[in-house]
Amino acid sequence: MNSHYLALSSLITLFFFLTILTPSYCTAVERFVECSIPFDCGRIKNISYPFLGGDRPDYCGFPEFKLGCRGDEYPIISFEELEFRVLNINQSHLIMTIARLDLLNGPCPSTPKFVNTTLDFNNFDYQPTDQNLTLFYDCPSEVSGLDGAKNFSCGLDNTANYFVNESFTGIDELFEKCHRHIRVPVLGSTALINESLGLQKVLNQGFDVDYHNSWAITCLGCGASGGICGFNSSSHPFVCLCRDGDQQPLFCSSKYACSFLFSLLD
Ligand SMILES: *[C@@H]1O[C@H](CO)[C@@H](O)[C@H](O)[C@H]1NC(C)=O
Ligand SMILES: *[C@@H]1O[C@H](CO)[C@@H](O)[C@H](O)[C@H]1NC(C)=O
Ligand SMILES: *[C@@H]1O[C@H](CO)[C@@H](O)[C@H](O)[C@H]1NC(C)=O
Ligand SMILES: *[C@@H]1O[C@H](CO)[C@@H](O)[C@H](O)[C@H]1NC(C)=O
Ligand SMILES: *[C@@H]1O[C@H](CO)[C@@H](O)[C@H](O)[C@H]1NC(C)=O
Ligand SMILES: *[C@@H]1O[C@H](CO)[C@@H](O)[C@H](O)[C@H]1NC(C)=O
Ligand SMILES: *[C@@H]1O[C@H](CO)[C@@H](O)[C@H](O)[C@H]1NC(C)=O
Ligand SMILES: *[C@@H]1O[C@H](CO)[C@@H](O)[C@H](O)[C@H]1NC(C)=O
Repeated sequence: MNSHYLALSSLITLFFFLTILTPSYCTAVERFVECSIPFDCGRIKNISYPFLGGDRPDYCGFPEFKLGCRGDEYPIISFEELEFRVLNINQSHLIMTIARLDLLNGPCPSTPKFVNTTLDFNNFDYQPTDQNLTLFYDCPSEVSGLDGAKNFSCGLDNTANYFVNESFTGIDELFEKCHRHIRVPVLGSTALINESLGLQKVLNQGFDVDYHNSWAITCLGCGASGGICGFNSSSHPFVCLCRDGDQQPLFCSSKYACSFLFSLLD
């Protein structure tokens, strides 16, 4: 009975070593290495988790953080039907500055998407420094009680367009009289629209969104344990990729045989 048990356990041990030395083991180690390398996306350099983009493998970040990279342009991120230019990523503070792509060349887009600005609120949120502007289009040229509202042109005669912040008292009048409107966040510091800083500049300076979420803390723990944060849709979305090729839900707890290989490379 006992000797049978020992034989069986040696067999299991042998099987275990054979398994860990197979190519899939090395693939797992490769993942750690690949996800450790920051990537460049257009004008923004040295980007890391949770962002994806370019050639970066899907298991190195969240799909919601996928950036479109084009030449030397600003990266693009999409939330539902809207695309945004990513002007800055402050990776130490988890804040991204983004601007609507459809308003890049004017507040009156030639392919108008008269939709309010929306975010992916599961992963992103507005910053307290943001302020909402509402842009009203196709208003009658004489709306009363609009002292303080600022107008802009869309090149059409006989109609007017206005933009106001949310504390503007005549806003209900505009909602009633104008045919279209959209809500666009801007940086609060620029929202007191200064005559020399036109509406277009303010829109193009974008607004801040933070992406500080539960995984951000988890990722710190993973990093502290020597791991690299990754993504695996078939297990927990968040995974901690370890030096030895192991994949853990939170952090790398133990050291395994192959880590010596990496100490040679370091
Ligand atoms: C890239 O970013 C990391 C932190 O994410 C930082 O430690 C490193 O110094 C940066 N490298 C360059 C070249 O900016
Ligand atoms: C990130 O934000 C902090 C606080 O606003 C600021 O001090 C720092 O310079 C910013 N870093 C980058 C790279 O924008
Ligand atoms: C856009 O936001 C405004 C409030 O700012 C709201 O009244 C309007 O219904 C929204 N439009 C759409 C299409 O969601
Ligand atoms: C802007 O409007 C959106 C949608 O109504 C709201 O969630 C957000 O808090 C507003 N931002 C500010 C700074 O008021
Ligand atoms: C909103 O705009 C008005 C002028 O249209 C300005 O006096 C007011 O300070 C602005 N509010 C904020 C919170 O910036
Ligand atoms: C804004 O309104 C004023 C007064 O009605 C008008 O003179 C001016 O041409 C308008 N500007 C634009 C850009 O439509
Ligand atoms: C308006 O903006 C310009 C350029 O940014 C700046 O030099 C000027 O001081 C601003 N004026 C006010 C009243 O804020
Ligand atoms: C994802 O997790 C599953 C189950 O843990 C594993 O079999 C698979 O290899 C992992 N995929 C990646 C890309 O890490």
